[in-house]
Amino acid sequence: MDRIVVEGGPRLSGEVHASGSKNSTLALMAAALLVDGETRYRNVPRLRDVDAMLEILCAVGADAEWVEGEPHTVRIDGSRVSNPEAPYDLVRKMRASFMVMGPLLTRFGRARVSEPGGCAIGVRPVDQHLKGFEALGGKIRLDHGYVEATTPGLEGARLAFDVTTVNGTQNVMMAATLANGETVLENAAREPEVVELAQVLNMMGADVRGAGGDRITVRGVERLRGIQHTVAGDRIEAGTLLTAGLVTGGDVKVTGIDPAIMESTLEKLREAGAEVELGRDEVRARAPDGLRGIQVVTAPFPGYPTDMQAQIMATLCVANGSSVVTERVFENRFMHVPELQRMGADITLSGRSAHLRGRNRLMGAPVMATDLRASAGLLVAALAAEGETTVNRVYHIDRGYERIEEKLRGLGALVRREG
Ligand code: EPU
Repeated sequence: MDRIVVEGGPRLSGEVHASGSKNSTLALMAAALLVDGETRYRNVPRLRDVDAMLEILCAVGADAEWVEGEPHTVRIDGSRVSNPEAPYDLVRKMRASFMVMGPLLTRFGRARVSEPGGCAIGVRPVDQHLKGFEALGGKIRLDHGYVEATTPGLEGARLAFDVTTVNGTQNVMMAATLANGETVLENAAREPEVVELAQVLNMMGADVRGAGGDRITVRGVERLRGIQHTVAGDRIEAGTLLTAGLVTGGDVKVTGIDPAIMESTLEKLREAGAEVELGRDEVRARAPDGLRGIQVVTAPFPGYPTDMQAQIMATLCVANGSSVVTERVFENRFMHVPELQRMGADITLSGRSAHLRGRNRLMGAPVMATDLRASAGLLVAALAAEGETTVNRVYHIDRGYERIEEKLRGLGALVRREG
């Protein structure tokens, strides 16, 4: 099994390009199922999760593949979708595949998708997705680990989510595009990935308004058409690369990213002492006077992203002074903590908060990646650690970071992958 070996120490500097957003891409790929025709997305990151979504789309009968000769383009033709069923073996690999449910249900009046189950970062139910489909008139039945939904035709409705859910908002928003009449989603997620999906749905001919705010209105239309779209840069990858620079005392510029969608991340970096320079589609961070401890609380957008929690924690391990990092989105997203402790980090966990005493010298150690962002946090820590760190179970990283070791090497890191 692949592992990444990092020799900590070198200051990272230079320019690196952010890939397209993984989480935008996954929702956009599901949206292609709404269309009786071909959709093409460019700037799609080459990731295991994208491959997993392609597999699901093919399983339901779509014609979905990477375009030959264009390494970051996928084409999805939804005209021959025949089997609105997403099997357990595929869905369990990636929870985001549950997002095919809304498009399949609204277009075909029936969908059967495996319940995704829990995952490493928490229980992660899909009750809010189902609440949405039911509000639109879907009949939901749980059957041997599958969610089966049927409808003679979805009807627009008003609905308030009990918790803010990104994929839930996206799933129900997609279902509402082909429903009869108007749907109003209250307490909708405001993440940039929701906004991008709404934009793409509108390009397809949908009528979605208010995305980016907490009330989204969707007026159903008869049909949607295929489009071409270039996926926005990945704000979490960009943030990860900036922390990778800062933790080493370096100076990194990330291009291909709109800084406006990563404001809360940049604000915390500034608070920790970083100088952050914004350009059009690029951002640069360095901390010539070192980093200081801060408090970070994760929250739905526009709050600090949970997907950047492990990386900031790793960075704060080498800051001057104490920090408190509180996780409010997922109940179990601290699996990187015991691994960071093995690298010498001084962290005490208390409920949903991690208390860090900074000014640590981290030591290289063999560590275990447990989920995607935890792995990213360990990589960041490894870059600052004395000596060699081996990050095992790298497949987690490959789910969400394209060629991460190459990108880090380009900035001067001593990183290699071993098979
Ligand atoms: N929740 C419910 N019921 C639901 C749905 C969610 O209780 O029906 C709870 C979850 O258990 C969690 C909270 O609501 O405590 C927020 O979860 P959300 O639904 O917003 O997460 P998600 O949509 O499943 C997406 C990203 C995650 C990211 C979260 C939060 C994708 C494919 N995934 O997940 O990304 O952490 O939003 O921002 O868009 C990652 O990239 O590493 C990743 C995990």
